[in-house]
Amino acid sequence: MDSQDIIQHFAEQTHPDELEQFDRASIKELIEQHDTPFMVLDLEEVDYQYKSLQAALPNVKLFYAIKSLAHPQLIKRLKSLGSYFDLATIGEVELVESLGVKGEQCIHTHPIKKDKEIQRALDFGCTRFVVDNEEEVKKFYKYAGQVELIIRVSFRSQQAVVDLSRKFGCTLEELPVLVSMAQENGVTVSGLSFHVGSQSLSPMTQVNAIRSSIAAMKVMNHVNWKFLDIGGSFPVHYQEAVLPIVDFCAPLNEALAELPAGIEVFAEPGRFISGPSMIEVVSIVGKAKRGARTWYYLDDGVYGGFSGQIYDHAQYPIVPLKPIDPTGEFFPSVLAGPTCDSIDVVAEDIELPDMKVGDILIGKQMGAYTIASATEFNFYPKPKVVVVEDIFDPETDALK
Ligand SMILES: Cc1ncc(COP(=O)(O)O)c(C=O)c1O
Repeated sequence: MDSQDIIQHFAEQTHPDELEQFDRASIKELIEQHDTPFMVLDLEEVDYQYKSLQAALPNVKLFYAIKSLAHPQLIKRLKSLGSYFDLATIGEVELVESLGVKGEQCIHTHPIKKDKEIQRALDFGCTRFVVDNEEEVKKFYKYAGQVELIIRVSFRSQQAVVDLSRKFGCTLEELPVLVSMAQENGVTVSGLSFHVGSQSLSPMTQVNAIRSSIAAMKVMNHVNWKFLDIGGSFPVHYQEAVLPIVDFCAPLNEALAELPAGIEVFAEPGRFISGPSMIEVVSIVGKAKRGARTWYYLDDGVYGGFSGQIYDHAQYPIVPLKPIDPTGEFFPSVLAGPTCDSIDVVAEDIELPDMKVGDILIGKQMGAYTIASATEFNFYPKPKVVVVEDIFDPETDALK
């Protein structure tokens, strides 16, 4: 598939009508047991997302990016599926260690670290670290012989919702300098990595990054290259349809086939695994007619589970739990969070049937970068996470 085909394919996707696919009974049962707001983590969906990505990238080792959703049961489930883990902080090291993950199953991908963070990861047995600048390479001189460095290169992406290469990654021109500095000081360089940005809508930036990385490896043939790490970025279906994962990954596999023999490929998926695995259940606690629109006040908002709308630029699909008559009347509505801040608005200009105080709404695709960045502003507690098996339909990402 070339980029034109991909754009065409993307344009042909339609947003499926998921409203009628709810297992309302299961959600109602959970509501009887738990006060809203709460999030529902479906471990079967975790399986499905992990296996789909692994099937789409058969020759790639998947290192789950814990930062997207650091729930112990999700990590245990991924461990049982054979996943590896991408760590970035001492807290993440301690979490996976407490769950029986081994250091050699992990890579440390934060390009900027304190010495105590390097030491803690090494104590855990994680020896592969990402660096992207001279100061960071110098921090590893004293660990020569104990570590393998993976150098992160920046490839900017217009297609990604979150452009991570703005903040991290060296240029291809800087790469040889970092390699020489490490090697002259006895520090092993084994790999290259990149992250073209999260929620990437086209695979072509990743394809170009793979090709440029392979070319750089071939030019620097004095290095014993062992790994190419293609980062995260695999997209999920929020308001807009995205390419099916098999189609997204097909051009990546084609580009990866050009790698010299013996180089292992890693990926660091976060959103693709955690995003569709969780929903949030919220209640309407207030209602006011303001001008032409009805404002509904929910018991959670952008300071809580919906925080990804601010930090992650996500717009979650939000639908009422009660069955909707598609031929009925819809009204321009606003969904607002409970805090006193005016930024705490979850959805503007959403068309909804007439709703009552006490009615339930469901936010979907809410696993990635949601509870992870939630706060307790105004003393509203973060929504708790209820763990279940098998209440979503993985084919549609909808509740069954
Ligand atoms: C270093 C690194 N790896 C992996 C990820 C996960 O990316 P995604 O959620 O797009 O898969 C991130 C996200 O911020 C990251 O910073």
